[in-house]
Amino acid sequence: MFSQIIHEKPENISADILVLGLHENDLELTPELQEMDKKMNGLIAGILSEAFFKGKEGETEILLTGGQINAKRLLLLGLGKQESLTGETLRKAAATSMQSAGKLKAATLAVMIPGKVQMTLEEVGRSLNEGVILGAYQFLGYKTDDETREKQSTVQTVLFNRAETMSADELAKGLESGRILGESVNMARDLVNEPPNVMDPQEFVRRARELAQHTGLEMKVLEREDMEKMKMGCILGVTSGSVRPPAMIVLRHNGAGDEAEDTIGLVGKGITFDSGGISLKPGEGMDEMKGDMAGAAAVLGAMAALARAKVQANVLAVIGLCENMPSGTAYRPGDILTSMNGKTVEVLNTDAEGRLVLADCVAYAQHLGATRLIDVATLTGACVIALGSHATGVVSNDDGWQQTLIDAGNATGEPCWPLPAFDGYAEQIKSDIADLKNIGGREGGAITAALFIRSFVEDKPWIHLDIAGTSYTKKPKVYQVKGGTGVAVRTLYRTVQAWIEKK
Ligand code: BES
Ligand code: ZN
Ligand code: ZN
Repeated sequence: MFSQIIHEKPENISADILVLGLHENDLELTPELQEMDKKMNGLIAGILSEAFFKGKEGETEILLTGGQINAKRLLLLGLGKQESLTGETLRKAAATSMQSAGKLKAATLAVMIPGKVQMTLEEVGRSLNEGVILGAYQFLGYKTDDETREKQSTVQTVLFNRAETMSADELAKGLESGRILGESVNMARDLVNEPPNVMDPQEFVRRARELAQHTGLEMKVLEREDMEKMKMGCILGVTSGSVRPPAMIVLRHNGAGDEAEDTIGLVGKGITFDSGGISLKPGEGMDEMKGDMAGAAAVLGAMAALARAKVQANVLAVIGLCENMPSGTAYRPGDILTSMNGKTVEVLNTDAEGRLVLADCVAYAQHLGATRLIDVATLTGACVIALGSHATGVVSNDDGWQQTLIDAGNATGEPCWPLPAFDGYAEQIKSDIADLKNIGGREGGAITAALFIRSFVEDKPWIHLDIAGTSYTKKPKVYQVKGGTGVAVRTLYRTVQAWIEKK
C-alpha cells in the first residue's frame, strides 16, 4: 500500500472514495467543502440538514457523486464530539474507511485531514496511518477458497489531503512512523496467528533473522547447548517435555551510540504452545495457547519499529522461546530448578512456566548490560479475571518508569493499569525447601507471578506487562480482527521514545 500527502481542492481529488470526517457537534461544512458541495447541488448540506447523518463516532454514509466531482463516492464518517477527539478516534476512523473501501473494492482512498484537532500534526498522521494499516490486516494465508481470499484489501493508494501546505513535513513524519508501527503490529499479529505446528521456536528464529537482516538489528541466538553452558536451568526445565528445540534470541538496536548511559532491556515470553505440561490444561480453549508467545512477538515488533525509525536509544531484547508439553521427559511438579543467577525454584505447577522462562531471560538481559527493563508476557489467567480484555496489567518497582509507560500506552490506545506490589504478595511465593516456588495460590495471582519475575531483577527499574487478556481477541475493535492483536508493540516503542525525550 502506498500513501501520499496532497494539497488539492476536494472536488479535484481523483479517488474511488473520498472520506469526510464530521463532528457530531460541528456539522458545519468548511468553506472548501461548501465549494465542493455546490458542484454536487448541495447534496451533503441536504443530508446534514435533514439529519440523515449525525456525526456520531463510527457512523457512516456513502454517497455516489454522479461524476459531479472527481471522486466517485463520498464517505461521510462520524468522528463524535469535537472535544473528545483523540488519536484513537482517528485510528478507528481510518480503519472504518479502509473497511468501507474493502467492501466497495476500491483501489484509491482519499482522506481529508481534519483541521481542528487538539494534537500535533505528527500525531494526526501517525494515528491515521496506523488505522489504515491495522484496518487492512487479515490472516488468510490458510484459506484456499477464492471467496474468502477475495476479502483481501483492494486498496492500493491512500491520499491524505490537506488544503494547508504549511507543516506538511510534520504530517509526513507522522505518516511514516504510523506506517512503521502499523506494519510492526501486523507482523506481531501474524506471529501469534500462525498455528503452533508452524510457529515453533525455530520458525520464530527464522522470521526474526529475516527481519534483523532487513532492519539492521544485531542478532544472536542461544541454542540448548548454550543455555546449558549458561546454566539456564529454568527455561531448560520448561522445554524438557518438547521435541522441538528451544531458543533464546538476543537483538540489539544501538541507536544512541557507545556513550549512552542507558540500555533498555525488553524481555518477551515466547511459549509457542502452552499445554500446561504435566499439569495439563483442560481441553476447552487450549488452542488459544498458540498465542502464548505474544510477548515475544510484541518485543520483536517493537525492536523492528525502533530500528526502522532509527530511534536514538540503545535497546536490547531477550526473547525466550520453547514449548510447554507433557511427555516422559517433561519436568514435573516437585522438581527444583536452578536459574542462571543461582536462585532455586520449586515447581509446584508446570503450567506456571512463563515466569520460569522469564527468570532466565531477565537474568540474561542484565548479564548483557540492560540497565532498565520491561518484560512482556501472556502470564496469568488471574490478570484476565482482574482487568478483563480492556487493559494490560502492570507491575513495577519504579514509579517514574511505570508512569512513562502508562502515559505511552494511553497515547496510543493501549491502556495499561497498575497493580500493587505490597510485601505480603512476595511472601506467597516463598518455598519451604527452595528459594522460591512457582505458584503463590489463587489470591492475587497476577501480582505474585510478577513478583516472581521481580526477584530476578537486581536493583534496576523494571516493569512487567501481563498481556494475557489483551493480546488475543474474540471481539475485535474496528482496527483489529479475531486472534492476535499485536498489543504492546506501540506502547513499547513509545515508552522508549518518551524515555529518551525526557532526558
Ligand atoms: N499462558 C498461561 C496464562 C494465560 C491464560 C495466557 C489465559 C492467556 C490467556 C500461563 O502460562 C498459565 O497457564 N498460567 C496459570 C498459572 C497458574 C498455574 C498459577 C494460570 O493463569 O492459570
Ligand atoms: Zn501455563
Ligand atoms: Zn503460558
